[in-house]
Amino acid sequence: MRTIAIISQKGGVGKTTVAVHLAVAGAQAGYRTALVDLDPQATARKWGDKRQADEPEVIGDHAERLPQLVEAAQSNGADLLIIDTAPNADRASLAAARAADLILIPCRPAAFDLEAIEATRDLASIARKPAWVVLSSAPARSAVVEEARRGLEGQGAQVAPQVVHQRVAYSYSVIDGRTAEEYEPGGKAAEEIAALFAWASEQAGLQAGKQSNKTARGRA
Ligand SMILES: Nc1ncnc2c1ncn2[C@@H]1O[C@H](COP(=O)(O)OP(=O)(O)OP(=O)(O)O)[C@@H](O)[C@H]1O
Ligand SMILES: [Mg+2]
Repeated sequence: MRTIAIISQKGGVGKTTVAVHLAVAGAQAGYRTALVDLDPQATARKWGDKRQADEPEVIGDHAERLPQLVEAAQSNGADLLIIDTAPNADRASLAAARAADLILIPCRPAAFDLEAIEATRDLASIARKPAWVVLSSAPARSAVVEEARRGLEGQGAQVAPQVVHQRVAYSYSVIDGRTAEEYEPGGKAAEEIAALFAWASEQAGLQAGKQSNKTARGRA
């Protein structure tokens, strides 16, 4: 099993959006996928309640229970565990970072967000796990994206090659528990999530960590 933690001390940067999209991408790729929601706001859990599909399994719990949840997921045959976290939650974010094989830090390419990223990067380095910034809610065709990438890399951050752009499909699809790919198959959001998932799963060593027999499931 491989675990990807989505953390950011800043609120509203796209953590849950990235978490649910990667979790569904994982399930669609044939990996047994569970999504753990450590945020007391329970955004991902409520999304899961509205969802008309069995996968991914969505579990809401307290960060203190994370070791037991990881163990349960592992013994239930999960291949991929995605952990969504709350903003301003040092201890819970650190617990998630420690449990992870890969940490993703969504960040908007805007000055205040870029400045705020230091605290989250500190948590990732305390956990000593590979961490990548994912530029999210990025404006299409704008120079700010490459500027943000250069700025972050100048600070020593690793920035994921894939960018999650600002798209209506992301905010609209989740209203009834779907994802952009399910709302608009083949759309631009679907394409960039597929690319982000392919990259992230490789970074996390997902193929090597697979437990069950991989059966590519057809898309509903
Ligand atoms: N790429 C995107 N395109 C369009 N809307 C987006 C995108 N990413 C996030 N949003 C919207 O921005 C808002 C905040 O996103 P989200 O809930 O994923 O952030 P978060 O970091 O999980 O927030 P919190 O810190 O409160 O948990 C939501 O309304 C979401 O639909
Ligand atoms: Mg959230």
